[in-house]
This record gives sequence, structure tokens and C-alpha cells, in this order.
Amino acid sequence: MISTKQNSKVNSNLFVIPIFESEIISNTIKKIPSSIKFDNWPLLDHFKGSAKETLLSAGENRIHFLGLGKKREASAISKVFRSFFYHNKSKLSGNISILLDHDDLEEFAEAIANGIYLAQYNLGMLKTNQKVENDWFLENSELNFVSEKAIENDLEKGKMLAETQMRIMKLVDSPANYKTPQMLSEEIEKMGKSSGFTVKVYNEKQCDELGLKALLAVSKGSVENPARFVIMEYSHPEAIKKVGLIGKGVTFDTGGVSLKPGDNMNYMKSDMGGAAAVIGTLEMAAKLGLKVNIVGAVALTENCIDSLAIKPGDVIGSYLGKSIEVINTDAEGRLVLADALAYLKKNYQPDVMIDLATLTGNCIQALGYSAAALLSNNDDLAESLIKSGQTTGEKVWRMPLWDDYKDMMKSDVADIKNLSSSPIAGAITAAKFLEEFIDGHTNWAHLDIAGVAFGDSEYVSMKSSTGYGVKLLVDWLEGNL
Ligand code: BES
Ligand code: ZN
Ligand code: ZN
Repeated sequence: MISTKQNSKVNSNLFVIPIFESEIISNTIKKIPSSIKFDNWPLLDHFKGSAKETLLSAGENRIHFLGLGKKREASAISKVFRSFFYHNKSKLSGNISILLDHDDLEEFAEAIANGIYLAQYNLGMLKTNQKVENDWFLENSELNFVSEKAIENDLEKGKMLAETQMRIMKLVDSPANYKTPQMLSEEIEKMGKSSGFTVKVYNEKQCDELGLKALLAVSKGSVENPARFVIMEYSHPEAIKKVGLIGKGVTFDTGGVSLKPGDNMNYMKSDMGGAAAVIGTLEMAAKLGLKVNIVGAVALTENCIDSLAIKPGDVIGSYLGKSIEVINTDAEGRLVLADALAYLKKNYQPDVMIDLATLTGNCIQALGYSAAALLSNNDDLAESLIKSGQTTGEKVWRMPLWDDYKDMMKSDVADIKNLSSSPIAGAITAAKFLEEFIDGHTNWAHLDIAGVAFGDSEYVSMKSSTGYGVKLLVDWLEGNL
């Protein structure tokens, strides 16, 4: 375990000196430390400070110069530190001092601490041979931030955020047989107890009593691992607003009878990334004591193939009462969200409703892996989410929710169908489907996070969880209520 401290004095001989990329690097170097002496040796002339560039000094003190790139952006700086500590964790040892007493780097204390703590994340949690090689994070070392300003709270927040992010990354990266709906609901109960939000789990029988017909229809394909519906509540005595957060929690998406192709189907263990973001946000809100009331709802189910599974063409019911023609069983996310949205609206009347879901491949076609799609019936809400996306680097890009797209979801036999009659604008038609189940709520946003919840990284060879959503929603909750 490492401990984090802020100090104006230096008590180590291992230093990290972060440096922005600038035209005359020696000018920046001159501004550096009062706190540490080093020779401005010739090699430094070749150091540009580009993002992730490093230079290690020789001599009595080991000094790592670490390039930050040009941008003064918290998310970019956080990534540089995650990368540096991840790739060097076996080479570092002892106490480390990070010099923040130049270039107003104190401003980024939270992001830097966040990046460093995230570097601990290890995807190999199920390897039987947990190789214990040199790992700085497992030492009893001190991380010392040299700063004139008080940054202890920022450091603590960056650390707390990383802990929650890693917890939800682990959930998303876990194989489906380690996170069945029941197992995941038990994990949420534990998180609620330890961080201070209440958790109510409805089993399949109770879901039936509640009338969550669309959720149960999807769950019919998985007789041995049936659905769970989980309501989480966090409240603060001074809160003036109630926020509803809804997450798609499909713990594995085979596509159902409309079976997906085999290639990369393993990645569909990440189809509960929306639920993970909601759970993580509740945990952070409770840990930070945010002045807001939050109700979270996650619909947990597998989308599998049993003889009882729903078939293309089946007509099912829903919590709101509308009948749905299931054209394609692979468009299951909108079915489970439909019930969760309608349930939350009716029973909790939140001032704002935001749902998050790895909902459509079409969202990836449109925006790639850089931004979530945002669809909202409220311009102020949309603007505020876009702003939080820019602040946190968890970007969102708005798409239209015009009624032009509504007719594509009309069914001849039921109130609505779950797949558009045309193979275009799939992220939008999915949102038009959801809109039918918010029951007239006027402050709703849908985030399609299919492209951003799970992706390639420099840390592992496969795609893995990004932890998307927690930073975005926490920033939004802090700034907008
Ligand atoms: N979970 C998928 C969407 C998805 C695809 C997420 C790729 C992440 C990466 C969703 O349930 C799905 O299968 N959607 C279908 C909908 C289609 C049948 C209308 C899709 O997008 O192909
Ligand atoms: Zn699907
Ligand atoms: Zn899905």
C-alpha cells in the first residue's frame, strides 16, 4: 500500500518532475525547484516535454523528467501519469517525490493522483500464478507531492475516484460466469453497505410482481441465471434535487435467438457497462457526501438462448403497459431499459433522468471510440452534460431526437417494435424507442456508451474496461445541482 502526502519538503531521492512541452524548455527548467538541486546537464536539451516522454538523470538523485505534452488538460495529464507509473512500477522503489511547485501544476493534483492510483489496475485477477515481481505499489512507500499550496483534499479525491473506477472496471472486465445477475446484485449490496447507499434487490419472482415484463422477457433465455432488478438510493439532508440514473446491466449478450456472430462475442461481457457507471456514481456520491438525492436503477440479465427464450416476432408486455413486437432479440438493451425508465419515473418522480447503456453498434459506426452519443429532450441538460464531458475528457456528442425518426419504430401488430424498419440511424431509433417509455418526462438524457465503455489501451492486448461514466456523472452532479 502506498500513502499519499502533501509536503513542501523533500524526503526522498527519487523524483518525478513533470514538464509541459514548450518551445524553450530551459526556461521552464529554470522555474523548477527551489526544493531540489540538479545539474542542467546536456541531455536535457534534447528533452521536448511531449506527452509521455521521459528522461532519467544519473547521479545521486534519480530524477525522472516526465513530459506532459502541450495541453493543460486534466484528463490528458492523468493519462500521462497512469502510463508512467504503470510502465515503471517494477523499476521504482522507495519514497517518491513529485514536484508540483512550478507551472501551476497544483491545479492538476487531483488528476495526477487519479492517474497514479489507476496505474495499479491489473486485468490478470484470475491468473492462478499471481507472479510477485517488483511492484512499487505493493511496497510501503510514500508518495510525496511537493507543493506550496494545500492540495491534500484534491489528492484524496483523485485517489478515491481511482478506487471506485477500478472497482467498476473490475466488474466490467469480469467474465460473465463471475458476474451473473445474482452475483452482481450481491456485489452492489456490499458496495452500498461499505460506502453508504441503500440497495434493494428484486429477484425474478419479485420482478414479476412489480410487472417488469420486458426485463423478464429477455431473462427467459437464461433460466438458470435469471434477472435481478436493483434500486440504489443515496440521499443528503440538504438536497434540493432528485436525480434518477438508469443503467443497462446485460451481463452477457449472445444476441439471443438472433444470435451474434462468434468473432469477438467474448467482448459482450462488457454489456453491463452502463450499470457499472451508475453503481460507481452512487458509490462516489456517497463517499463525497454530495448534496443531492440519487435513485439508481439497474436491470441485470443475461441475453441467452434457452428453449424458453423469446423469438423474433414475439410480442411482449412492459412495465408501462405498452406492447412490444420483438423483431430482433439482439436489440435487448432497449427492452430492459424501457422497464427501468418507466419504473423509476412512476415510483420516484426524479427531477432528471439519465440512462447509460452500451446500446448500439451503430453508435460506434457514427462516433467511433472517442465519444458517447447523447440524445436528450432537454437542451439545458444536454449542454451541461457536454460541458462535463469536456471537463473530464469523457466526451459526449449530441445526436438529434427529432420525431422524423419515430415512424421507423411503428409496428403493425403491437404498440411499438424494437427494431427499426430501416438499417440506418440505429443509435437514434434506439433512443426514440426509449423515449416511448419515459412517460412524458421532460428532463431526460440517454447516453449510448457502446464505443467508450470498453476499448483498446496501452496496458493490455485485449479490449478492456475504461471505467467510462463515473468521472462524467460526478462532475455533472457537482456542477449542476
Ligand atoms: N450490446 C449490443 C450493442 C453493442 C455492440 C455494444 C457492440 C458494444 C459493442 C446491443 O445489444 C446490440 O446487440 N445491438 C444491436 C442492435 C440491432 C440488432 C438493432 C446492434 O447494434 O447491432
Ligand atoms: Zn444485443
Ligand atoms: Zn446488448
